[in-house]
Amino acid sequence: MDARQLKIQAAKAALDHVEDGMRLGIGTGSTADEFVRLLAEKVADGFKVHGVPTSERTARLCVELGVPLYSLDDMPELDLTIDGADEIDGALTLVKGGGGALLREKIVASASARMIVIADESKLVDTLGQFPLPIEVAKFGMVATHYAVERLASRLGLSGTIEQRADKDGPYLTDGDHFILDASFGRIPDAEAIANGLAAIPGVVEHGLFLNMASAAIIASPGGARTLL
Ligand code: 5RP
Repeated sequence: MDARQLKIQAAKAALDHVEDGMRLGIGTGSTADEFVRLLAEKVADGFKVHGVPTSERTARLCVELGVPLYSLDDMPELDLTIDGADEIDGALTLVKGGGGALLREKIVASASARMIVIADESKLVDTLGQFPLPIEVAKFGMVATHYAVERLASRLGLSGTIEQRADKDGPYLTDGDHFILDASFGRIPDAEAIANGLAAIPGVVEHGLFLNMASAAIIASPGGARTLL
């Protein structure tokens, strides 16, 4: 079973939780894309859904495949969000934002009664932190914010590099027109301490640690999909 098939397996299992007429947050990333493709097939068969996308990328795919979309302001209370993750630990704490959509993903997930995470088993970890933690920061004062994040890391005894995300066109920009810092700590032993510390830095718009937000995670593996609660 290749990586794409595992993503499809997780997405398929998540679709069983989507009921006709639901107000649905739709995540971002390659796993969420598979979910959108399967959802679109159901919609084409007459299934009704009110989708709220977590990124421009997801919105484009939904429009292309005919999944009806609303803004979060049209639909401020959602029944369920289905989204991927970069890392998931046993307490369902997540690292998200590898695809750069963490701010909208977190806003949409917090507006949802439930969040189900879909992932292949490579995302399940004992300790978070192997995947660099994305931190979305305001453009204004970016260097000062970078230094403040470094000071926080050193206060918490975390070592590693903190780098501004860039792509071939230059500095990476989120849908909200912010920069992203990727913090490679290697280990995040106390996610709550980092989350609180980052939230207290004014230039930090949002960070990719999702604590107490996921209701369940559907983990795909060659032996089948299992649900962690
Ligand atoms: C985007 C995210 C994604 O959910 C995360 O990066 C996982 O993506 P993929 O399914 O492609 O591995 O947080 O901001």
